[in-house]
Amino acid sequence: MKTVTKRHWVLISLHCFLVGSLVDSSSSSSRLLSVTSKVGNQVVLPCSWKQRLQLTPSACHVQWETPADTVFEMNGKDKWEAEEFEGRVEVPEEKLGSGNCSLIISDVQIGDSGRYESFMVVDGMTATKTTKTKVFIQSVKLFVFDHKSFQSRGPGEDLVLDLYTRHSVRVVFQDRNSSEWSVLWMREDEDSERLQRHPVNEQLTMRKLKSSDEGIYKVLDERGLAVSTVQLSVEENSTALKRHQLPEKQAPTDDAVRSSCSALLLFSVLVTSFQIIHLL
Ligand SMILES: *[C@@H]1O[C@H](CO)[C@@H](O)[C@H](O)[C@H]1NC(C)=O
Ligand SMILES: *[C@@H]1O[C@H](CO)[C@@H](O)[C@H](O)[C@H]1NC(C)=O
Ligand SMILES: *[C@@H]1O[C@H](CO)[C@@H](O)[C@H](O)[C@H]1NC(C)=O
Repeated sequence: MKTVTKRHWVLISLHCFLVGSLVDSSSSSSRLLSVTSKVGNQVVLPCSWKQRLQLTPSACHVQWETPADTVFEMNGKDKWEAEEFEGRVEVPEEKLGSGNCSLIISDVQIGDSGRYESFMVVDGMTATKTTKTKVFIQSVKLFVFDHKSFQSRGPGEDLVLDLYTRHSVRVVFQDRNSSEWSVLWMREDEDSERLQRHPVNEQLTMRKLKSSDEGIYKVLDERGLAVSTVQLSVEENSTALKRHQLPEKQAPTDDAVRSSCSALLLFSVLVTSFQIIHLL
């Protein structure tokens, strides 16, 4: 009877029990992956515990950390995420069970750049008690870059400025001749005649451009980091206007085609007759 109870207790503690210790410790620990993205996209920081550990695939406990902080932790059904990553980080539970501990970061921010490390927390056992062991799995370097573009518009046209992320809170503008930056838009602003925010997409439309709108636009996030830089030129003959002029070039008319054909025919007749004369 006593042995049965003991076995029962052992089964319960097998959740993420470290069965065969580390499988492949040397090669994995020296491996450093890097992931690159632009602000606002979704990134996947790869992680696979299958090569490192032999675990029973249920109720696994994963941790993702930066040198400063824990970013995400999931132990069975219990999840925890750091405040600055709220609603943006996830390790799909069903994938974790099958060995994939990759961290999905949505709406990635410039400030998310840096080094991330993943760990599996496993229950080890001594004769008398269970112990928690944190096993290093993967190190990933994340690089997040801003968007840069050059735009050209004609006067009276509109400019759609991408904000890329809901964390973009300000747009500042520096006109062509000035070294000063002025605030053009803040997230809490109401739409105006000239500036309208798209109800769903993270986009701002500037209506009816004037030549004084020429200059540099910077979209800034909550930390004041540049999410996007757009250099705008407003010119009478912008590429958009030039494109409209293209169809004016007239295609050759039927008459013109026919007359050039007959000219060619006449020419070849002359050449042939010349050759005949020459042969005689
Ligand atoms: C692991 O899961 C992520 C998404 O959670 C996926 O993008 C990736 O391809 C998966 N990796 C493998 C090796 O299946
Ligand atoms: C910028 O300077 C140019 C001459 O260098 C001038 O023609 C133009 O009007 C100025 N633009 C603004 C917005 O002050
Ligand atoms: C724009 O193009 C027209 C003709 O194509 C030309 O006459 C005019 O000077 C140009 N304007 C500028 C500002 O380049």
